[in-house]
Amino acid sequence: MFFLIFNLKYFKILYGIGEFPHDICIGLRQIKEVKMQQEKEKTKTITIKVCMGSSCFARGNAANLDFIENYIKEHGLDAKIEVIGSRCENNCAVGPNVIIDGENCEAASPVRLESILKKYL
Ligand code: FES
Repeated sequence: MFFLIFNLKYFKILYGIGEFPHDICIGLRQIKEVKMQQEKEKTKTITIKVCMGSSCFARGNAANLDFIENYIKEHGLDAKIEVIGSRCENNCAVGPNVIIDGENCEAASPVRLESILKKYL
């Protein structure tokens, strides 16, 4: 009897008759959410903003920009990282400033940037 009820229940589901059982809906929803999260992670881009204001530029962001671009090329991260520039982040005293995914890396140097980039990527 149980077997018949069980089969009837899933027969209805398969052919679109009746309602989907709640527990199955939750399981499918969770699987779908995990897959969507994985897709997001794959396509997520990280924005690196290099301050090219006169203070940061003079203190080393020209070299930092070269380092970042080479790092991206060497590691094949073109699709994952977007590099943009800014004129001044109004934080000149602690420069050169490089903002990685919204976090300011103060007193940026190639050595510091490499350790941060490894953490992010
Ligand atoms: S020039 Fe970079 S913060 Fe001002």
